[in-house]
Amino acid sequence: MTTPEFLILLLCIINLCPKLTYAGVSETRRSRSPETTSLCSHLIEPSGYPCSEHSTKTEDGYLLGLQRVSSSIGKLGGRKGQPVLLIHGLFMGGDSWFLNSPDESLGFILADQGFDVWVGNVRGTHWSHGHATLSVEDKDFWDWSWQELALFDLAEMIRYVNAFTNSKVFVVGHSQGTIMSLAAFTQPGIVKMVAAAALLCPISYLDHITSPFVRDLVFMHLDGIMVDLGIHQLNFKSDFGTKVMDMMCDSNIDCGDLLASITGKNCCFNGSRVDFYLDNEPHPSSAKNLQHLFQMIRKGTFAKYDYGLIKNLKTYGQLKAPSFDLSQIPASLPIWMGYGGNDALADVTDVQRTIQELQSKPDMLYLENYGHIDFLLSIYAKGDVYDNMITFFRSYGNYSSASS
Ligand SMILES: *[C@@H]1O[C@H](CO)[C@@H](O)[C@H](O)[C@H]1NC(C)=O
Ligand SMILES: *[C@@H]1O[C@H](CO)[C@@H](O)[C@H](O)[C@H]1NC(C)=O
Repeated sequence: MTTPEFLILLLCIINLCPKLTYAGVSETRRSRSPETTSLCSHLIEPSGYPCSEHSTKTEDGYLLGLQRVSSSIGKLGGRKGQPVLLIHGLFMGGDSWFLNSPDESLGFILADQGFDVWVGNVRGTHWSHGHATLSVEDKDFWDWSWQELALFDLAEMIRYVNAFTNSKVFVVGHSQGTIMSLAAFTQPGIVKMVAAAALLCPISYLDHITSPFVRDLVFMHLDGIMVDLGIHQLNFKSDFGTKVMDMMCDSNIDCGDLLASITGKNCCFNGSRVDFYLDNEPHPSSAKNLQHLFQMIRKGTFAKYDYGLIKNLKTYGQLKAPSFDLSQIPASLPIWMGYGGNDALADVTDVQRTIQELQSKPDMLYLENYGHIDFLLSIYAKGDVYDNMITFFRSYGNYSSASS
């Protein structure tokens, strides 16, 4: 295969390509509104929900955006319940919790149920705010993987919400957000601020991933090729990314089938909202992050980034990259998991291994017909998934006792 073909394939990872071809998106739709727009004013306030913008800095200098959302005006008289922090997946941002209607989208539903909703945005995504000293043009800006997203970004967001609300935090993660959560919860200093966690499409091990598409890319060593090409940032909305997308959309790839071959077959996707999803997704990530994920698929590990023997020794003081030990997550942390029989990324075998290694026995919700994206965008997700999750949180939280 030639290099451009590799790049085209890369672009299709997760959710991009199918939507594009499907929607025949115009040039203007493809570029997001200018940086000055905030997530609050872009997506949340227009639906009638009060929303405030917050920002915090990680220990390694990244400036993260957070949004705080409460119930639509009048519904709950300004009362705020226990904070819940939402952590989005790979190539997504905080907007991903608000992409369907208010009675279908988890972010709005939690707010209407009286939770104090905090929306996380990891480094490099559109609603985070860069770095104290580095520019997005610097290659060092992109020198991170989910390991840093867990140990710096998630740690800082939980710390911020915990300090601001003076309350332990509920955490909800989807996909990469669950990798981050599970890694972060092995750290005593972070998990002590967490009241309970709900993981949608939980991932720690990835070696049983069934997605034929992702397996092909791993087999072809796409990640190594990108490094050789000097690609650090994966940004599908850059000029270059847009050109490649044009190329891709002119090609004859059957993108409807392709989405299924990447994420597994999604049962309950609203096809007429594809245009709108594409206004918001995908968000940038780093090539190193993709490489770290591919390492997990190849080696069957849930470990820190593997630099190779010599640099591991320098970085970690040992030859092998240290594992994240799931048994270090305290048994006292209540965990709920929602997983799907058609999820080609969070495979059932891998989910079961995760559960075996945990000390606690999580509450499990299994939906046979759900694929990876359904947990976020299914039009039936409220009845199928979110009501169950909310019952779980209610049984552990102080949701009605806190005041505003
Ligand atoms: C699907 O999306 C369309 C377009 O946004 C919307 O009008 C319709 O109500 C949605 N259907 C459901 C069941 O949410
Ligand atoms: C609920 O509130 C009590 C007393 O205010 C506190 O000790 C406890 O940790 C809280 N529970 C959670 C899950 O935050």
